[in-house]
Amino acid sequence: GDRAALRAALLSWFDTSGRDLPWRAGMEGKRDPYRVWVSEILLQQTQVARGLTYYDRFLKAFPTVQALAQAPEGDVLKAWEGCGYYARARNLHRAARQVAAQGFPDSYEGWRALPGVGPYTAAAVASLAYGEARAVNDGNVRRVLARLYAQAVPSEAWVQAQADTLLDSQRPGAWNEALMDLGATVCTPRSPRCGACPVSGHCRAFAQGRPAAYPAPKVR
Ligand code: ADE
Repeated sequence: GDRAALRAALLSWFDTSGRDLPWRAGMEGKRDPYRVWVSEILLQQTQVARGLTYYDRFLKAFPTVQALAQAPEGDVLKAWEGCGYYARARNLHRAARQVAAQGFPDSYEGWRALPGVGPYTAAAVASLAYGEARAVNDGNVRRVLARLYAQAVPSEAWVQAQADTLLDSQRPGAWNEALMDLGATVCTPRSPRCGACPVSGHCRAFAQGRPAAYPAPKVR
């Protein structure tokens, strides 16, 4: 059906044109959970370009979850400098101590129980490191879905429901990153590059000729 064609088109675009990012090393759906976790926490507050620098620095300081767990809090906060939101670093450190003692959780629910791990991070780690079929929901995903379905005022519940329905259950990690890459590089907030979009033929906003109208700016 149409959904299957949309999935195939976006995934094949991702396979050839997805970004080459350091935390993407390793087999699809079986990446190092520590690296995925650290990168996703960092990327919640900085753009990918800046996040790259912080990611390298943090991983050099704490290459493994054991190294992070054993470090004094002051060293962790020092390595976090420039990234803002020190509560995130403190939670990451606390969670690393739990993981060092108990092992990595291997499911979405297990990750959610760790300090500082919300629905977004748990879905990202579960899909990217464990191949679990969980859809991420972030700003890029929200915009892409709002345009595909010409939804001007997408509620959180609507976005999550669409993301869950559209998720490719065979390749959930690649699917999640494909949506995020599309939103970051093609389906951008202003002046989206619809000529370069692998799914413009599935997009209602494109069919209407006004992709940038979706989602409508938030009323404050
Ligand atoms: N933004 C946050 N996490 C990302 C990821 N894994 N891939 C692309 N963009 C992202």
